[in-house]
Parts: sequence; structure tokens; C-alpha cells
Amino acid sequence: MTDPARPGPAGDVADRAAAGFRHRYGEPPAGRWAAPGRANLIGEHTDYNDGFVLPFALPLRTVVAAARQDGGRWTAWSELSDSPVEFGVDEVAAPGRVAGWGAYVAGVVWALRDAGHDVPGARLAIASDVPVGSGLSSSAALEAAVLAALVDLGGVDLPAERRPRLAQRAENAYVGAPTGIMDQSAVIRCRPGHALFLDCRTESVEHIPFDLATAGLAVLVVDSRAPHRHAGGEYASRRASCERAAKLLGVAALRDVPAAGLDEALALLDDDETRRRVRHVVTENQRVLDTVELLRAGRIRDIGPLLTASHASMRDDFEITVPEIDTAVEAALAAGAYGARMTGGGFGGCVLALVDADRADAASAAVTTAYAARDFPAPNFHLTTPNTHPRP
Ligand code: GLA
Repeated sequence: MTDPARPGPAGDVADRAAAGFRHRYGEPPAGRWAAPGRANLIGEHTDYNDGFVLPFALPLRTVVAAARQDGGRWTAWSELSDSPVEFGVDEVAAPGRVAGWGAYVAGVVWALRDAGHDVPGARLAIASDVPVGSGLSSSAALEAAVLAALVDLGGVDLPAERRPRLAQRAENAYVGAPTGIMDQSAVIRCRPGHALFLDCRTESVEHIPFDLATAGLAVLVVDSRAPHRHAGGEYASRRASCERAAKLLGVAALRDVPAAGLDEALALLDDDETRRRVRHVVTENQRVLDTVELLRAGRIRDIGPLLTASHASMRDDFEITVPEIDTAVEAALAAGAYGARMTGGGFGGCVLALVDADRADAASAAVTTAYAARDFPAPNFHLTTPNTHPRP
């Protein structure tokens, strides 16, 4: 959408969206709709393998102020961009006709219309606290907030559990990013104080209590500021090798390889790289299940080693980390974090570390020092407990 290093505007995000609407269109909006960013506690690159994920919503959100507009036209303004976007029915007749950040808006209109819904023309003003390009799902938050606005403005009957697929379709087919279902599910279905245990095959969910504050804990989110190096191509190639491996193993998806059957499956594969990719996915699914068990038992601190093992698996087997990310994980662990791992698609983005709330400052200072020692640009930090604000 814009330069991720550009600082966000000041003031409450919902106020900014409403003020932006009034300023741009000369009247108040009909309403405001919001969706949060997310961090994934554990379960990386498992979603498109029909596996398990455990994201939670962040107290950072994207807000869309909107009103209907006649004539089958959509106009969108964002505080994060100098160029507003305007399109009509021709541009949403087929994917790919609107580019840049407007593709996320047009993609949602397209996906709704393609699913047979009657979408009203609309004016939209967008404000966001979710950093762009940091792997905290700013795209899914934008899609989900726009979707909620259009659905309400048009009186479209689309229950929450059917919205993630539609938003994912906008991203996959219109924007052209071959992502799984995790991000859109997280930003639409997460609840405050809980992590979302999602079975990506059936889309069934369980809200797992994740009450960090009561346990004296916090999650430190470190924005590595590492540029996303070849992220798109690498993501697609990881996905392709998982799909190839599933075919070779004769299963519908790697989710169908149980942890207990891993060695047997690996013995059927003849190249080492594919074996490592499979090992990551199979062990990661098991780590999600183990994490859920511990959280159900109220043993939050004990998930630390699973988080760290997940990171090692992403670094060594799935090969999606970068030096800035590994440095942040090592420094947070050395400063006493219970566990730390990269969160999101990889090749940059964020690290999350589970820390005692009163050790969070020490952990962030340790990461900053480790970065300086390696001449990396200073990282950004968000201290968080799971939260979500479905409505402004
Ligand atoms: C990105 C994608 C998700 C998921 C993660 C990796 O965030 O959008 O669908 O695949 O990467 O877990």
C-alpha cells in the first residue's frame, strides 16, 4: 500500500477514517467497519496443507468508513496512499483490472459479485494502524473491513463463517497472491482474550483461552524491518513443493501425514529438500495440537519450547527465515523469553516472543542491541495481548 517505514498518522484510527470520509466526500459516513491485524502463535505454512493454525487478533486495526453511492461505482481513499482509487462494474467483471492497493478493495467487490451477491456502489475511506508489509495481515484486515462494510450497506446475507473464503478468493484470484485461509479467518473470527484454533480443512474453529495478562505474560512482537526478499515467489514455491509431495505420497494434503507416520513418509521421498519441507509441515501441525493442549490446561509458559522448535523448523527445514529474524529470536531467548519464533509467511516480517510482562523491556532492549551489533536497521516493537475490535 505504501512505504512500510512511513509512520502512521496520529489519533484514533476510527476517528481518522470518519474524518477522512467527511473531508474527502463532504458528508458523514453511514457507518464504520473494522478488522484487526493478526499474529500467528504457531502453525506456519500449514493452512494451505489443510492443517492447523493458532492465530490471535492484535489490538491494531483497519477501519473503513463508508456510505452507498449510486451508479455501480466504487471510490476508495486511504490515509496510507496519495492516490485514491475509483472503479466501476467493468473493472470488477474479471480479476486483475485494478492494481496496487485498490486491488484489495476491487477484489472484494469482484468476489462478492462472483458469488452472486448484489453489491451496492460505495464510497470508502480507510485508516489503519496495522503496519503494511510487516506480516501482520494488513491485507486481510483491509479485505475483511471492506467486506463487512459492503455486506452491511447492501444488506447481503453472508454469515461470518463464510466470509473468510470470500476474502481469500479476493486475495488469491483478484490480487493474485496464492495464500491460505489463515489470515482472513483470523481477522474475521478471532475473539478477545483467545487464540483461534482453526482446522483449515473443515474451517471448524475453537476459541482457546489465551489470557496473557492474568498470567503476568505478554507477547512481544518484533517487526524485523527486514525487506521482504522474493517473498511472493518463495511462498509460491514452498506451496508448490508441498502439493507435489502430497501427490507423491498419495494423500490429498500433507495434513494427512500424521506425526507418527513421518519417518515412513520421508522414506518414500527421494530428494532431501522435499523431505525437509514435509518434515516442517508434519511436525508443525503436531506442535499446534500440542500447544492447544497446553493452553487448554492453562500452562501458557510451557508452550515456549514449542514456539522455539517451530522457529528452528522454519529456519532449517522450511528455509523461510532471514538473518534479521533469526537474530531477533536468539536475542529474545537469551534475554529470558520462554519461546520465540517468526510469525507469518516469512522472508522478513515479525517475530513473536513469549515473555514475562515485566521482562518485556529487557527483551526488546536485547533485540535492539543485537541488531545494532550486526548493523541492521533498528527494529520496531509492539507489546501485545490478544485482542480484537470487531466494530469501531
Ligand atoms: C501468509 C499467508 C497465510 C499463511 C502464512 C504462513 O500469512 O497469507 O495464508 O500461509 O503466510 O503460515
